[in-house]
Amino acid sequence: MSRWATYDRVQVDRFVAMAVAAGVLALGLHGCGSGENDARPAAPGPAAAALPPEELIPALRREFEGSYPALAPPSVGVKTWKIVARPTEVQVFDDRMLQVWSYNGQVPGPVLRVRFGETVRVELVNGLPQPTTIHWHGVRVPNAMDGVPNVTQPPVLPGESFVYEFVPKDAGTFWFHPHVRSSEQVERGLYGALIVEDPQPKPYSQDVLWILDDWRLTPDGSAIDPNFNTRQDLLHDGRMGNVIAVNGRTDEELTVKAGERIRLRILNSANARVFIPDFSRLDAEIIAVDGKYAAAPFVSRRLEVSPGNRVDFDITFSPEDAGRVIPIYDRFQRKPNRLATIRVLDEVVETPRFDSPAEAHVPEWKAAESLEPTLAYTLDTRPGGKYGIEWTMNGMTYSAHERPNTLYLNEWAKIRFTNESDRLHPMHMHGNFFRLLTRNGRRIPERFWRDTVLTRPKETIEVALVPIDEGPWLLHCHILEHAAAGMMTIVDVKPREPGS
Ligand code: C2O
Ligand code: CU
Repeated sequence: MSRWATYDRVQVDRFVAMAVAAGVLALGLHGCGSGENDARPAAPGPAAAALPPEELIPALRREFEGSYPALAPPSVGVKTWKIVARPTEVQVFDDRMLQVWSYNGQVPGPVLRVRFGETVRVELVNGLPQPTTIHWHGVRVPNAMDGVPNVTQPPVLPGESFVYEFVPKDAGTFWFHPHVRSSEQVERGLYGALIVEDPQPKPYSQDVLWILDDWRLTPDGSAIDPNFNTRQDLLHDGRMGNVIAVNGRTDEELTVKAGERIRLRILNSANARVFIPDFSRLDAEIIAVDGKYAAAPFVSRRLEVSPGNRVDFDITFSPEDAGRVIPIYDRFQRKPNRLATIRVLDEVVETPRFDSPAEAHVPEWKAAESLEPTLAYTLDTRPGGKYGIEWTMNGMTYSAHERPNTLYLNEWAKIRFTNESDRLHPMHMHGNFFRLLTRNGRRIPERFWRDTVLTRPKETIEVALVPIDEGPWLLHCHILEHAAAGMMTIVDVKPREPGS
């Protein structure tokens, strides 16, 4: 409690409300756990429970076993960075100078690379004219390192600093960004990648990172449009840019040799834009989503990379590709956007042969569909609030969720999102991975974990997870304008007390 009490009064009240909720409400297994203060209860599921939940839920929990470890590995060393967030002029896109906010003077920010087992220690220095924090998106950090202002830490004020330190529990592609006024701070250029390498990295010819972003510039292209969270953005799918950049460039080009086999890590740092990168003519398999390897590599032409998502590809260039110049397009919208170019040299090298990395175990959870959700959220919008439009979860904006919903530590749980709006909502949960189970009642046999999943207009989706890290974790839309206008809540993961 003291951890909260130091931050502000609102949080203390929230904590007390949580404690009361835990004692009074039997949230969880049978019903929709979203609580009696919800303005709009969720619609009933497509099928009533066919098996008694008291048998099914422990079985689903057992199916989770062996998925990923609860604990971080013992630290084998420390990597230290100092990251200064400050206004900077940088050369971006096609070499023009742009006034941005950057981490260490660069956009994208630094790529932090550690080996699995190494401690990440980052001293954040705030040189911005606003408070800030760093959130480690997708990384299972101790809750106190999660970077959520007034929930896991006080905001870092201008001129102050804060040290983040943790050992990542998973190897993979992650990223970091502010969680204070993120619709402005991320858009102005504050983001970077955290890559946790496997203990024995596979011998790819190259390990490449593409950070996708879009920027909205003023009509003459000389500055970042300083109007954030506009009514127009809020009514739609957030702030769409007029410049699409990969690694801060509009002319990003990757050079490979024919025969090379590369690992291409893609991360979407845009406020709102969804991408579907198209590698159709290439031998490209997806090996990882949101940091974690899939149960097996797979080919998909339609996997959306929503704001927050990461997708890692395993791409082999054949000798026939020699000399080709391959444009890579984004095909999320009808009109394709050119993202980058791959130039294949004439030189042919031998292709490295090895089994693609894969996650040993991802539960199928087939029996889960009959169960009612543990938590259910309707996603919707209404006029009002400081921006004129609010985005709500169960009829409430972030500040109105007085009592976080509870998930019990180590217990299987299902979360349902019912999107009553006509807009996209990439829903992201901090500190946890989940598996997508259904879309509109139809089974989705994804054999990989996610931390962010796109909910399409009027769609109902269900995800399942076993929370294995305690604490209040944010659950929100990663369209940063929707989040700013209220589409965030807290899920409190805590041990079940006897009798609750
Ligand atoms: Cu990238 Cu709260 O998230
Ligand atoms: Cu949204």
